[in-house]
Amino acid sequence: MEHKIKVLVSKEQIEERTKELAAQISREYEGEALHLICILKGSVFFTCALANYITVPVTLDFMSVSSYGNETVSSGRVKILKDLDESIQGKNVLVVEDIIDSGRTLSYLFTMLNARNPKTLKLCTLLDKPDRREMDIEADYTGFQIPDLFVVGYGLDYMQNYRNLPYVGVMEQ
Ligand code: IMP
Ligand code: MG
Repeated sequence: MEHKIKVLVSKEQIEERTKELAAQISREYEGEALHLICILKGSVFFTCALANYITVPVTLDFMSVSSYGNETVSSGRVKILKDLDESIQGKNVLVVEDIIDSGRTLSYLFTMLNARNPKTLKLCTLLDKPDRREMDIEADYTGFQIPDLFVVGYGLDYMQNYRNLPYVGVMEQ
């Protein structure tokens, strides 16, 4: 697969912003332990980079979700392809996402995770497309707000491709 891809957020910008977010997170959770939940596959790269710079004790877990059935219905229900390995009860949970678009996936996920009684539940996203929002959901930590464009790279895919690009780019037609 080969498309022309124009850089939207550079590797350097991502690195710098990740360090800033990690510093803020480390300050806000000082004296506490933090349980990071990486939403597969898109947020793998961001979760790892972020975890590297967080200075409070970190544990990691992974979850894989997909939209339920026919996209045109868009119920916002998500199917769990891989659930967490460990209980989140009583933990400071920080969900790490690649991008918030309509917010449907996360809205559903948050209701579900909240029911498992974490001590705290927050959200960190690398990218946010606020123009596309349909649900009332907002990240506690946001890397970059971007316009309504389809982006790839740094975990984000187009038909499973381009996740490994070290930057976030826009595919040109
Ligand atoms: P939503 O917030 O429930 O609408 O869905 C968010 C999910 O859609 C993300 O986790 C991505 O997997 C996918 N997504 C949304 N926008 C983009 C994009 O610009 N590029 C690649 N994937 C995207
Ligand atoms: Mg995703």
